[in-house]
Amino acid sequence: MKNIKSVLFVCLGNICRSPTAEGVFAQKAAEAGLNLKVDSAGTAGYHVGSVPDNRTQDVALAAGYDLSMQKCRRVDSNDFLDFDLIVPMDIENERNLLNDCPAQYQYKIRRMMSFVDTDYDEVPDPYYSGIKGFELVLSLIERASDALILQIQNDPS
Ligand code: 4NP
Repeated sequence: MKNIKSVLFVCLGNICRSPTAEGVFAQKAAEAGLNLKVDSAGTAGYHVGSVPDNRTQDVALAAGYDLSMQKCRRVDSNDFLDFDLIVPMDIENERNLLNDCPAQYQYKIRRMMSFVDTDYDEVPDPYYSGIKGFELVLSLIERASDALILQIQNDPS
């Protein structure tokens, strides 16, 4: 994975999965000594301007990730130019991004669980699940973030 200087994580609402990915990946990348721009956004606009969901924040904070400074925003057409790597959490987010993304930038779109070898193709939507769903989201995102960081480190510019 060459020349990755910026990463955008994407889910539906930008209040559960992609804020978790932004916080976890940014912290792990900094600890690994990588200087990257990291952000997140949603394909839907229901929660624009909100902080992450309380359940998302609580589960993340218990594991040492503070998401409280994040604000929900929607994916913007400039994102396809501005980011080197765009990472949807599930297949539906991926499909929606590919529909909106100009052909010359579609190579930037890579699903989160594609970076790691597990039974999960997707980071499942936790919004209507119990706290276990949020804990699963965090653990999948931690594993995928570790794998993505290794891929960036092993193939620098
Ligand atoms: P996210 O979860 O895509 O991981 O942020 C959701 C958040 C809100 C809704 C659905 C999923 N919603 O329907 O409002």
